[in-house]
Amino acid sequence: MIHRLMFELMYLLGRTPWDTGISPPELIAFLENHEPGRALDIGCGTGTNLITMARRGWQVTGVDVSSRAIRQAQRKAYAAGLQIQLIRDDVTSVHTVAGTFDLALDIGCFHSLSREERIRYASNLTRFIKPGGTFLLYTWLEQNTESENRHPSQESVTHLFGQNFELTSIEHGAHRQRISAWFTFQRKV
Ligand SMILES: C[S@@+](CC[C@H](N)C(=O)[O-])C[C@H]1O[C@@H](n2cnc3c(N)ncnc32)[C@H](O)[C@@H]1O
Repeated sequence: MIHRLMFELMYLLGRTPWDTGISPPELIAFLENHEPGRALDIGCGTGTNLITMARRGWQVTGVDVSSRAIRQAQRKAYAAGLQIQLIRDDVTSVHTVAGTFDLALDIGCFHSLSREERIRYASNLTRFIKPGGTFLLYTWLEQNTESENRHPSQESVTHLFGQNFELTSIEHGAHRQRISAWFTFQRKV
């Protein structure tokens, strides 16, 4: 509840430094190398990446806990003339997302969750992605599991998704003096 209100407030005040209106090169590279299918953007914000995917022929669904973000995404999709399904829901307890997806994308949602919420998120994710489908995750990281308070460590990310997903790549980076990584997982068949 507090988590949701915090994001709602950030959207209300326009304190959304992540909302650049530009899709990251890692997503573009993925789209250039895969045929379009069904994609789910988890914590889709104002829909920038949904629009990028829809323009490339993907059938897209976005879910976000902030109703303000969802409304902005609806307006952007309408202005772009694109059919995009948008759902206001909490991905740690989500019941409103139907069907399975070839791609699930998360840029910056997973790392904002508590440890308990991340566990629930991982179990929900398994039912969203088709066997063989991809989970593309951008997350901030703590150095190691002991220092893991606000953000996950690399070990906990690989452990959390390891049962149902094969890790196919990790690209490390740094953002605003934080370590971060792009993880690509493939749902086990
Ligand atoms: C850092 S922003 C990134 C937004 C978007 N992915 C982007 O790259 O522009 C994180 C987003 O996750 C959403 N979010 C956080 N917790 C969530 C939850 N439990 N369920 C659904 N969305 C959530 C926030 O409202 C916010 O829009």
